[in-house]
Amino acid sequence: MTSGLNAEGWPDALTRRPAFAGDLAADVDALLAAHGRDVTREHVPRVAREAVRLARRFGVDVGAARTAALLHDVGGIVRRADMVALCRALALPVEAEEEQVPMLLHAKLSVVLARERYGVTDPAALQAIRYHTTLHARPTPLDLVVFLADKLEWDQGGVPPYHAALSAALDGGLEAGARSMLAWMATPAAHLLLPHPDLRAAWAAFGITPAGPGRSG
Ligand SMILES: [Fe+2]
Ligand SMILES: [Fe+2]
Repeated sequence: MTSGLNAEGWPDALTRRPAFAGDLAADVDALLAAHGRDVTREHVPRVAREAVRLARRFGVDVGAARTAALLHDVGGIVRRADMVALCRALALPVEAEEEQVPMLLHAKLSVVLARERYGVTDPAALQAIRYHTTLHARPTPLDLVVFLADKLEWDQGGVPPYHAALSAALDGGLEAGARSMLAWMATPAAHLLLPHPDLRAAWAAFGITPAGPGRSG
């Protein structure tokens, strides 16, 4: 992963950004608004509140959870059509699945923005942002908090179909919650366009077998 931001690779709107004001929640909101990401604007504060709740409940760093949650989707300001080229310009690896479903790259772009625009240096927070969509084979409690907060407060409108099961599973801890969520993501109801390699690694680590061989959705 590159350590510097290649300004030439970013959309014009980003290079004309106002200076970071120091209030992370407000700045993220303004950034999302400037790029017309109204659904994400509504989603992010809910995820941040849920991440803080989960962090307090399970003894995870509350500040890191809030920071990661506020920044987890900022990469979504990049147009989908530009995501692959931008990642390549930033020397970020692009998996075959990400080339086919560029939106999968938004988490990697969120990491770059978190580091370069907001000055986040905590590797634990950056990792939680990186894996918020898919999880991975060896998630930390912070990774689990951000992943589960994003799922409990999803951006598809209404109450997620797995919400009650996930909430009940969380009584058994973060890992039990993650296992419940990952199992749901392995069912046809999840309508996944393409399982990301990190999600497949998480399924394997949690002993979950996706339904049906060769399914692509
Ligand atoms: Fe996301
Ligand atoms: Fe999200």
